[in-house]
Amino acid sequence: MQHSQRPSSRGHLLYLLVLQLLFAYTIAYQTLSDDFLRNLTLAESDFDIHNQEGLLAPILIPRVSGTPGQAKTQQHFVNFFRKELPDWTLLWQNSTGTTPVTGDRQIPFSNLIVRKEPPWTKPGQANYLTLVAHYDSKFKPDNFIGAIDSAVPCAILMHIARFVDKYMKQMHEEMVALGELGGTVPMDMGLQIIFLDGEEAFGPAWTSTDSLYGSRSLAEEWEHTMNPALSNYRDPLNQISIFVLLDLLGSANPRIPSYFLPTHWAYKNMASVEDRMRKLGLLETKPARPFLYEAGKVPNQFTKSFVGDDHEPFMKRGVPILHLIPLELPRCLAYSPG
Ligand SMILES: *[C@@H]1O[C@H](CO)[C@@H](O)[C@H](O)[C@H]1NC(C)=O
Ligand SMILES: *[C@@H]1O[C@H](CO)[C@@H](O)[C@H](O)[C@H]1NC(C)=O
Repeated sequence: MQHSQRPSSRGHLLYLLVLQLLFAYTIAYQTLSDDFLRNLTLAESDFDIHNQEGLLAPILIPRVSGTPGQAKTQQHFVNFFRKELPDWTLLWQNSTGTTPVTGDRQIPFSNLIVRKEPPWTKPGQANYLTLVAHYDSKFKPDNFIGAIDSAVPCAILMHIARFVDKYMKQMHEEMVALGELGGTVPMDMGLQIIFLDGEEAFGPAWTSTDSLYGSRSLAEEWEHTMNPALSNYRDPLNQISIFVLLDLLGSANPRIPSYFLPTHWAYKNMASVEDRMRKLGLLETKPARPFLYEAGKVPNQFTKSFVGDDHEPFMKRGVPILHLIPLELPRCLAYSPG
C-alpha cells in the first residue's frame, strides 16, 4: 500500500488524533517539543471516504449488531491489527441480549479490546490509558451509516495505535536498557483501545436497558474479574488510568466541553496542545473558539449534567472519564456515500 504522507495541516481530524497521542505521552514522559509537533504527519488517504485500502472507508457501511456489515467491520479491525501491529494483544468480550424490537432472538454483542503494555509487566501490573469508541450503528433508519457515530472515531483510534506504536517500542527499549523495570504508574503504562458494540438503542427511544449493551456487559464482567494475588490492580477496571471516550467526532468545528472535574487536568493538557499547535500554524481550521474551549473552567462551574453514552457503566464503578463529544449534536448525523 502506498500512502501519501503530508505534513500535518488537515484540521479537526488530525487535530483530535494528535491530541490523543500527545496526551498519552505527556502523561507518561514529558512535554513534547515544538519540533515533535511539527513532525506529525497524517496519511490523508486513511480517512478518504472512497479509499477501500484506508482505515475509514471499509467501515462506512451499516454495522448493526449481529449483521454481516458488523462482521465485516470486526474483520477490518482484526486484519488491521494482525497485519500492522502483530504484537498487540487482541481480546474479545462477548455477550448476547434481547432488544425491544427483535423478539426472543439473542443478539450477539462483541467488544474488541486491543492492548500494548510494557514488556516487563505481569498480569495485573500495567495501567492502561484507555481509548474507546463504539463501532455498531443504529438499527433504524435502514441503511444508517453513522460516519461520525462512530466510524470516524474508530478510524482515529486505529490511526493512533499505529502512530504511537513505534514511540512506545522505543520508550520501552530505553527503559529496559536503563534497567528501569517498572513499579511506578508512569513506567507501567500501557495503551488499551476498546471498540464497543451495542451502544445504540434498537427501539425508537433510548432507555437504560435498550442501549449500551456492550459497555454494560464489559464493565460488569471486569468488575468481577480478579487479577492474580499481589497484583498492583485488583481487577481490569482498576487498571484503567483514564477512560477516554470519543463519540460524534468528524464533522466540522466541534466544540467539546470539559464535562468532569476529576479529569479536567487531562482536558487542560489537551487544550494546551491544541493552543500550541494553532500558534505554530499546524492546524488548518481557524475557528473563532478552540475545539476544546473550556480549559479555563473552574471547579464551581462543573454541574452534574453529562451526555448519556458508553462511559456510564464505567463511571458508575468509579473509573475516571474524559468524554470527547460535542455538546451540540453536529447537524449532519449520517453520511451516505453514493
Ligand atoms: C523530526 O523529523 C526529523 C526528520 O525525520 C528528525 O531528524 C527529527 O529528529 C525529528 N524531531 C523530533 C523532535 O522528533
Ligand atoms: C466473540 O465474537 C467475535 C466476533 O464475532 C468472534 O470472532 C469470537 O470468536 C467470539 N469469541 C468467542 C469466545 O465466542
